[in-house]
Amino acid sequence: MKIAILGNGGREHAIATKISKSPKLQKLYCIPGNAGTDLIAENVAMDFYNYESLLQFIKENKIDLVIVGPEKPLVDGVVDFLSKENIKVFGPNKMVSQLEGSKIFTKKICKKYKIPTAKFGIFKTNTEAYKYLENADMPIVVKADGLAAGKGVYICEDLESSIKAVEEIFNGKFGLAEEVLIEEFLQGDEMSYFILSDGKIFKRFNTAQDHKRVGEGDKGKNTGGMGAYSPSGLLNTDLDEKIITEIVNPTFRAIKDMGEYYKGFLYVGLMVKDNNPYLIEYNVRMGDPECQTILPLLATDLLDLILSCCDETLEKQNIIWEDKKSVCVVLCSNGYPDIYKKNVEIPNIEKIKNNDSFFIYHAGTEKKDNKIYANGGRVLNFVSISDNLKSSRDKVIREIETLNWDNGYYRRDIGYKIIDK
Ligand code: AMP
Ligand code: GLY
Repeated sequence: MKIAILGNGGREHAIATKISKSPKLQKLYCIPGNAGTDLIAENVAMDFYNYESLLQFIKENKIDLVIVGPEKPLVDGVVDFLSKENIKVFGPNKMVSQLEGSKIFTKKICKKYKIPTAKFGIFKTNTEAYKYLENADMPIVVKADGLAAGKGVYICEDLESSIKAVEEIFNGKFGLAEEVLIEEFLQGDEMSYFILSDGKIFKRFNTAQDHKRVGEGDKGKNTGGMGAYSPSGLLNTDLDEKIITEIVNPTFRAIKDMGEYYKGFLYVGLMVKDNNPYLIEYNVRMGDPECQTILPLLATDLLDLILSCCDETLEKQNIIWEDKKSVCVVLCSNGYPDIYKKNVEIPNIEKIKNNDSFFIYHAGTEKKDNKIYANGGRVLNFVSISDNLKSSRDKVIREIETLNWDNGYYRRDIGYKIIDK
């Protein structure tokens, strides 16, 4: 088969790595890909938001399947566009991608289907929002409705900062805002829980724990994710059952009631408190860096799973996992998530070799004149799998130290809540 993957992050490199091992694969394209995917696929420098040129490329190269990595093209409707052209494409359509594309859409489903989530209010004007905030308990969470690359969420400790957040959102910091979402601050531990669905049925995929804050001990600014481990240490049979019955089942019922169906990965972002799950958010794709830590544990052929979702035969698939623990540490450019340098060479990276239990997935990298340069905030994902989390993390840190990139920053404490307790 000829396959194209859309995206250029660590998630897409991890997907490409798995797909490249499938006996069904004939040719793999990554659009646009990064310096890592360049080693296992043909990178295509193309703006995939230009759907007409994307379609032309797919037709000219007789591509049999398109896998969409990031949320933006999904929310934008790339799946609807390609499906109409009879191209096989893996990912949810535009309508159901609102689960990620509109936090208010999801909150309304939670209310109607009694899905446990933070208590919330939706406000159309500053005045209404301020009135609510004046009587609210702090901290409180203020959110822009649409996609904001992880930046549209404000955790506010006092009235003043919450008012400022509402103001920024209505002033258009994240695009035109007709409404603002304000919700209760949930205490607890976060978990990323993944589902795979073919539009008829769904199956559990796996779980991970992401570390979003830039600093050790989960301090400092929010980032796209500084590292993750899988499976999550929080999961047990009772919690798993609650997640499915209280959150996932009613969501799929809601989708069905809308006359819709969901094909693809569904990322259920949870807060867990006293072994009870609360939905924080949905994402309509794999997580990044969760994907990099989860996929190396997958023993089943990923391409078979994806094709079964496209063909509505997921029922027949057995999803098998290696009984191992995986840790991913993200090596960032110094200064991330604020200002960092671009075009910085990463010398000696080719000396570090991937094997069956250790992988480097590239994110913000680019190859020029046979050298690898960092061109993004999150640059490389170091992943190791072994019998326990500590040895996985130790191995990853040893390899990062070997690379010794002087523009790099990383957290040494990924997984600390269970490794170092
Ligand atoms: P979101 O983009 O909705 O995932 O929010 C980004 C991050 O903000 C989440 O991963 C949580 O760490 C935090 N967050 C969002 N909503 C809440 C909430 N209601 N209570 C506590 N933390 C939250
Ligand atoms: N790791 C968080 C996300 O992918 O949204």
